[in-house]
Amino acid sequence: MKLLAGKTALITGASKGIGRKIAEEFAKQGANVAFTYLSSVEKGEALEQELQAFGTQVKGYRSDASKFAEAEQLITSIVADFGALDVVVNNAGITKDGLLMRMSEENWDDVINVNLKSVFNVTKAASKIMMKARKGVFINMSSVVGVQGNAGQANYAASKAGIIGFSKSVAKELGSRNIRSNVVAPGFIRTEMTDVLDPKVVEGWTQDIPLKRAGEAEDVANVCVFLASDMSAYVTGQVLSVCGGML
Ligand SMILES: NC(=O)c1ccc[n+]([C@@H]2O[C@H](COP(=O)([O-])OP(=O)(O)OC[C@H]3O[C@@H](n4cnc5c(N)ncnc54)[C@H](OP(=O)(O)O)[C@@H]3O)[C@@H](O)[C@H]2O)c1
Repeated sequence: MKLLAGKTALITGASKGIGRKIAEEFAKQGANVAFTYLSSVEKGEALEQELQAFGTQVKGYRSDASKFAEAEQLITSIVADFGALDVVVNNAGITKDGLLMRMSEENWDDVINVNLKSVFNVTKAASKIMMKARKGVFINMSSVVGVQGNAGQANYAASKAGIIGFSKSVAKELGSRNIRSNVVAPGFIRTEMTDVLDPKVVEGWTQDIPLKRAGEAEDVANVCVFLASDMSAYVTGQVLSVCGGML
């Protein structure tokens, strides 16, 4: 049984890492997949080709989620191309780490705009479609750092904590329209975002994780499949940590 058969999903930031894996697992589970990328144009185009193998409708869009007008245009294009939009995974994200004393205003604004404002932009535009259809699912990518904070990541942690408050509010506002809104909070997942970290720091973290390993993008994607599917029909306003017990 394919868990997402007949559903159309948008995944933002799917050229690589977690988003890419979510797009792949969703297509495998029978979903029609719209996805976005920004700078990794070749990777985005390659993903569109690769996902054709699963036999559902697939299209990649170059779209900056942090820009309100681009997000609106994106949703209009998806509805024109696919005829529906049932699931949105707000996954696009960046880091610009630094201790507070050295953090520039630009690095604060960039991280808040890409990680948090993007979720507002895409959710606002998509919710109009879902309200008319009287069904829909939002899955918003936070982080364990948004729950517990992290030295050197005040901007990132604030953006990820903001996503939790936003998602819980949307769950309350739109629940009566059969629209669910949940948060996934990954711990330490191996992707290009974390490949830049010092191996010694990573080793130290891994020792503190009860499951004694870093997570894989697939670990997060599997949870997103559950939250996107009707298997989680009575789950909304929740934060699901995918962190090997770290939190
Ligand atoms: N990896 C972890 O350990 C971890 C832990 C907790 C939470 N997360 C969260 O999980 C999500 C995915 O992380 P990842 O590790 O897979 O990161 P990643 O490998 O760096 O991928 C980030 C993705 O976001 C896209 N993106 C960045 N800015 C964008 C924008 N303005 N508009 C549209 N797309 C944009 C990138 O596209 P381009 O390359 O095309 O620009 C890329 O596809 C992020 O929200 C991250 O904060 C990750």
